[in-house]
Amino acid sequence: MTGLRPELAGVLTRSRGDFEEILAGSDLVVELIGGIEPARAYVLRAMRAGRHVVSANKQLLSQHGEELWATAREHGVQLRFEGAVAGVVPVIRVLQESLAAARVERVHGIVNGTTNYVLSEMARAGLSYADALRQAQELGYAEADPTEDVTGKDAAAKMAILARLAFSTPMHLDQVIYEGIEHITADDLEYAKELGLALKLIGTAERVDAGVSVRVHPAFLYAGHPLASIDGPFNAVTVESDAITEITLSGPGAGGPQTASAVLGDVISAMIPPATTPAATARLPVVEDVVSAFYLHMEVADRPGVLAQIAEILGMQGASIKSVVQRGLGDNARLVMVMHPLLESRFYAAVRLIGQLDFMRSPPRAIRVIEEEFV
Ligand SMILES: NC(=O)c1ccc[n+]([C@@H]2O[C@H](COP(=O)([O-])OP(=O)(O)OC[C@H]3O[C@@H](n4cnc5c(N)ncnc54)[C@H](OP(=O)(O)O)[C@@H]3O)[C@@H](O)[C@H]2O)c1
Repeated sequence: MTGLRPELAGVLTRSRGDFEEILAGSDLVVELIGGIEPARAYVLRAMRAGRHVVSANKQLLSQHGEELWATAREHGVQLRFEGAVAGVVPVIRVLQESLAAARVERVHGIVNGTTNYVLSEMARAGLSYADALRQAQELGYAEADPTEDVTGKDAAAKMAILARLAFSTPMHLDQVIYEGIEHITADDLEYAKELGLALKLIGTAERVDAGVSVRVHPAFLYAGHPLASIDGPFNAVTVESDAITEITLSGPGAGGPQTASAVLGDVISAMIPPATTPAATARLPVVEDVVSAFYLHMEVADRPGVLAQIAEILGMQGASIKSVVQRGLGDNARLVMVMHPLLESRFYAAVRLIGQLDFMRSPPRAIRVIEEEFV
């Protein structure tokens, strides 16, 4: 299509190839070794030698992006990284190019296929977290050590990159608040169905007042949200802006051929100017305490006055209840509520107080609810 035919100058692994030799015979370097070092050193060296670089390394970009982009700008080369976020889904290009003129207000993403597969199977087949994770590992959707995925760290790195592009402000992985899916139970998913909600590990990057908030946590979505129907190992990203209302991009988030397609797409783009390295045109403060709706799951002794006491504590923090499901379990009862949006710090203050009440049978569990629907 482009008439250009890339030729392989050489391959470097830990046991094979010589970096300087390969560099000398190349126009462009593809970094797919992962991790920070020596990936960072190779990428910097290649750009300083005037080579374009293509990488799929989200950890490197989310922790050293500013240094890398500055080096790319200084040396007039391209650093392309479509494969680093949402695999083959072309979200980087869309943010950097197609939406360059839109003021992005919010980005929501399901950017980790492992956790989306686990949550989908828990909801679909009623599996426990451990069983769903084991199944994901057997099918190759989860690695032998899934820690980075299930703790939300992998998604946090990707959201840092998306926030950096969406808001043109420096964003480091350390500034992203993240929480994983390890504490989610099959019960949460069962009650959610009753309340018309789907549970996802959602990354959010949004403008809040004069700053930005970037976070990753499990969240419930109503059926009208474009991410509610993204199941299995798929990834999807929604971008919201006044100019475009909302767009959603979805597709396979990982896998050899899929990631290779994103990487080769970058190789071809790099061979065709113009170069785009994102300039940080703003320095927005990072906001940690934001407004959110919540799902609250409580196991309580079934006796008079319980609901009134819980409602009083919630009321004192300004939390108001949107819907309640109550189920009797012998001497105990299960109370599941969805709260209207309020400041997270106030909600968690109420949850701490509720957790101390003598009729609580186990610590209350809280999960955020994203209330937007696009229907
Ligand atoms: N797999 C996916 O679906 C996917 C999706 C999106 C992004 N990515 C990103 O792509 C990158 C690679 O992931 P992967 O799954 O392909 O990893 P992988 O299977 O572990 O492959 C890493 C490769 O890099 C080589 N390598 C490792 N350390 C090296 C070093 N110090 N010097 C030279 N070569 C080294 C390894 O060869 P030796 O072991 O022989 O040295 C191996 O060929 C990561 O940044 C990952 O986050 C992967």
